Amino acid sequence: MLSYSEKGSGQPLVLLHAFPLNRYMWDRQLESWSNRHRVVAPDFRGFGESPLGEDESRMESFADDVRDLLDTLKVSGRIILVGLSMGGYVAFEFCRKYPERLMAMVMIATQPVSDSEESRKSRYELAEMVRTRGTEVLIEQMTPRLLGKTTRLSRPDVVETVRRLMISNSIRGVSKACYGLASRRDSTPILGAIPVPVLIVAGAEDPIIPASQLEAMKTGIRQSQLVLIPQSGHLVNLEQPQELDRLVQVFLAGLG
Ligand code: MLT
Repeated sequence: MLSYSEKGSGQPLVLLHAFPLNRYMWDRQLESWSNRHRVVAPDFRGFGESPLGEDESRMESFADDVRDLLDTLKVSGRIILVGLSMGGYVAFEFCRKYPERLMAMVMIATQPVSDSEESRKSRYELAEMVRTRGTEVLIEQMTPRLLGKTTRLSRPDVVETVRRLMISNSIRGVSKACYGLASRRDSTPILGAIPVPVLIVAGAEDPIIPASQLEAMKTGIRQSQLVLIPQSGHLVNLEQPQELDRLVQVFLAGLG
């Protein structure tokens, strides 16, 4: 079973983390959102304290693991699923397989497309680097991609948190996930079938998620709204947590 953090009671909010981080990236949201909600934040297999297992680390398997965790925790009502980047890729898979379990989604710094040939190649290279040099290599490789310029220049505490989270993961967990990310399928075809309201959020300084993908989500998903947050890179929940809190609160209040 996946390791997880849990706090609060009420309408369940399930928080899915980014690559190559783990559930502790949501520490602040676990506190602030648990005032009104039962917040559950799992570690995907091979991340944080979750066992890796023998099977491939596919986004579909991650979604099944989340469903199993919810069953174990007896979360029976419809959930609000919050996914950041890789967490969003898993949220698309969860929505494909278990749409009846969703009440709404918050898709942060994520995109529906699968990897290009070039991105796949970079994933295999990263997996090899991590295998040979350890998770320390993620600091130089990933920090400039994950954190916006504003944060890198003015928030050493956030830079340090991200560094700590990245190196705390296991070499095998991270490298296997690189293959899972590279082989993920295109979720563009399901956008029109997403049956719930979706709040799409991204950082204006994010080099990973192209604006065209955000627009594709907004246009494709019937009940959606898109908000771009200034002075944030990819890790919106760490870089602009107050603004994210505000947006999520307004969105959830609007669900009735
Ligand atoms: C993530 O933040 O989960 C990853 O950077 C996503 C990606 O590389 O596609």
